[in-house]
Amino acid sequence: MRERSYHIITFGCQMNVHDSRWLGSVLQRRGFAESPLEDARVVVVNTCSVREKPEQKVMSALGRIRQATGGNPDVLVAVTGCVAQQLGEELFRQPQVRLVAGSDGMASAPQAIERLLEEPDLKLSLLDFTSRYEEREEGARGPSGPVAYVNIMQGCDNFCAYCIVPYTRGRQKSRRTAAVLEDCRRALEDGAREICLLGQNVNAFGRDKYGDGVSFADLLRQAAALPGLLRLRYVTPHPKDMGPEDVALFGELPALCPRLHLPLQAGSDAVLARMGRKYDAARFVELTDALRAARPDIALSTDLIVGFPGETEEDFQQTLALVRRCGFMSSFSFCYSDRPGTRASRFLDKIAPDVQQDRLLRLQALQEELGQDWLDARVGGETDVLIEGESRRDAGADGLKSWQGRDPYGALVHVGLPHAAGDMTGRMVRTRLVEAKKHSLLGQQAGEPW
Ligand code: SAH
Ligand code: SF4
Ligand code: F3S
Repeated sequence: MRERSYHIITFGCQMNVHDSRWLGSVLQRRGFAESPLEDARVVVVNTCSVREKPEQKVMSALGRIRQATGGNPDVLVAVTGCVAQQLGEELFRQPQVRLVAGSDGMASAPQAIERLLEEPDLKLSLLDFTSRYEEREEGARGPSGPVAYVNIMQGCDNFCAYCIVPYTRGRQKSRRTAAVLEDCRRALEDGAREICLLGQNVNAFGRDKYGDGVSFADLLRQAAALPGLLRLRYVTPHPKDMGPEDVALFGELPALCPRLHLPLQAGSDAVLARMGRKYDAARFVELTDALRAARPDIALSTDLIVGFPGETEEDFQQTLALVRRCGFMSSFSFCYSDRPGTRASRFLDKIAPDVQQDRLLRLQALQEELGQDWLDARVGGETDVLIEGESRRDAGADGLKSWQGRDPYGALVHVGLPHAAGDMTGRMVRTRLVEAKKHSLLGQQAGEPW
C-alpha cells in the first residue's frame, strides 16, 4: 500500500464521471497518485441512485474493496454521490467506510480525506446541501483530453414523479457564468477542442435564485465565442424549458453540434401527465420539428421509460409511434423502477416486470432499426472526426493504424491513419464514410488533419 495513493470507482451519469475526475485531479494536486485498488490507501466509491438496485451495487463494490484490501483498517473508504446522500451515516456500518459525502459534500471531500488520514479514529459525514453553487478547489493542471465537461448547475427542481435526482442532488443551483466560462477557457488552453456543458436541466440555467441574469442561450453564445473551441454540446435539456431562442441557436452557432439528447420518457399524454413532465406528445413533436427547421441535419437521441405505473399497451404503442416519428438516432431505455420517496413509488397500478421487460425489448428492437437506418444513411458522405484515441479495429490496410473519434452528431467513427502520423488524439480528421457497422461507422481519411 502506498501512503498517498487513491482509487476511484464511479457509477452513474456524466455529472458523476465529471465529479470523479475532479476529485482525482485534486488528490493528485495534493500529492496523491492514482493506483490499482489493491494498493490504494484511499478508495472512493462515487455512487448513483437513479435506477435499479443502487444500494446493492454499492454494497457489492464495498465487498470487492474489502476483498482486494484484505479488510485492512488503514484503507480509508469514502462513499460519495447520490447513494451516499440517500443512505448517509448508515454506510458507517461498513467498517472501512470513514467518509460519507453527498452531492454538495463532494466539494469538501479532499480536505476531509486529508483529515481522516491524520485522525484514524474519526469518521466524517458531509450531507448538508449548501445554499449556493459551491465553487471547488482547482485540480492538477495537465493536458486535457479533446472533450472537456464543464458543470453549469447543480440539482434539479422538476420533481418528475419517478425521479430521485431532486432528492439526492438537491434543488437547482446555477453556477456563476464567469466561473463556467473560466473553466471552459482553462480546458481549451489545456488542449480541449470540444466542450460539453453539464446539468440536470440545462435550459433552466439562471432561472433560480442563484442566477446572475445570464440565460442559457446567452451562456451558449458566450461559450461558443471562446478562442480554440471547435465544438460545443450540452446535456441534459428538458422539453418544457427548451425555448425558441435555445432552438434557434442550432442554426446560428456553427460550433454548436447538430445533435441533441432530448429526453422524451413516454409517448402517451396520460403517462407524461402522470410523470409530471409538463409537456405532451404534440409539444414534443412541435419542438423536434422546430429543431429540424433550425438545423435540418440535427440528430436526436432520447431517454425512455417503459412500464411506468398505469401504462397500458395502448400508451406504450404511442411511445413506439412517437419514437418512430422522431427518428431518434439512439436512445437509452429503462424499465420503470420505484425510487424511495418519489411520488410514483406511491402509485398503485404498478406494471408486472415481465410486461415491462417485453415492452422494453420491443422498444429496443425498434430503436435498433432506427439507429441502423440513421447510420446507413450516412454512408457515402463526408464528416469531421475529432479523434479521441486508438481503436481496436483493424485499419484494413498496411501502413495504417486505426483511430476512433466522434463526428459532429456524436456518432462513433473508426478511421485508418498513417502510422507515421504519430499520436492523433485531439486532431480533427476529414473522413469519408464507407461502411456502417452495428453501432459505429467506418471511414477513410479525406483531408489533412487539423
Ligand atoms: N436530468 C436528466 C437525467 C435524469 S436521470 C433528465 O431529465 O433527463 C436519467 C434517466 O434515467 C431519465 O431520463 C430517465 O429516463 C431514467 N430514470 C430516472 N428515474 C427512473 C426510474 N425511477 N425508473 C426508470 N428509469 C428512470
Ligand atoms: Fe429527474 Fe426530471 Fe429533474 Fe431530469 S428533469 S433530473 S428526470 S426530476
Ligand atoms: Fe445518478 Fe445522481 Fe446522476 S442519481 S444519474 S448520479 S444525478
